[in-house]
Amino acid sequence: SEPMFKEGFVDEVVFFEEIDSTNNEAKRQGDTIRDKAKLLICESQTGGRGRRGRNWVSPSGSGIWMSLLFKPDITPASASMLTIVTAMAVKAAITDVLPKADCMIKWPNDIVLNGKKICGILTEMSAELEYIHYVVIGVGLNVNTLDFPEELSDIASSILKETGVKIKRSELVVAFLKEFNYFYKKFMKEKDLSSLVTEYDAMLINKGREVVTSGELAISGTAVGINSMGELIIKLKDGDLKVIRAGEVSVRGL
Ligand code: BTN
Repeated sequence: SEPMFKEGFVDEVVFFEEIDSTNNEAKRQGDTIRDKAKLLICESQTGGRGRRGRNWVSPSGSGIWMSLLFKPDITPASASMLTIVTAMAVKAAITDVLPKADCMIKWPNDIVLNGKKICGILTEMSAELEYIHYVVIGVGLNVNTLDFPEELSDIASSILKETGVKIKRSELVVAFLKEFNYFYKKFMKEKDLSSLVTEYDAMLINKGREVVTSGELAISGTAVGINSMGELIIKLKDGDLKVIRAGEVSVRGL
């Protein structure tokens, strides 16, 4: 592995032909990170991880499997907003490279295209009390994947499968770094999403659709948008507004 190029906030890009998981590798390197960010990226993962302990299929040749490692000067409670920032950067990068790919953000972790998931984000951190040691933001993006496991074929897809266009993965990575730099800078001015809410809401597929929280006290309502903390605002049947945190939310009618 060797550094590839420099660009903005990300100081170093390290490429691996094969690795267990770029999030795992980022965690192993976590304590070495200082002012700048590092991007760890690979051709294939043998143990790619998704959220809720699921695995993430990461074959070679077709996807972007990468993790950003950095030490943001924010509180641990604010870290979930970085997922929002990252989702915006992914959505914007895809639009930069392929404007006709009409993808949207499914709050808070996914990017969908034609109703199917093409990208997932897994944010992890090491923190104690009010102090963050490091944050790892893992992005799995199905770019040119054509074959999905049977059980995923209804819910997962790729940019190629949905648009018929084969884009160069390196181009998309460069666009992502540029866009992340832009959105991250805006976020860090206030250390909240106040300057990004309007732009985010325009990228939000949930807007105007029904969302249901799972768990004991399931609430359902219509998604209105996010607030400056990145929480989803939903309108209940009686017209009251309620805010929900990232967690177990399912979206109907996708
Ligand atoms: C999800 O939707 O469940 C999140 C998927 C995150 C996958 C990416 S691929 C690069 C990084 N390394 C991992 O092991 N996971 C993330």
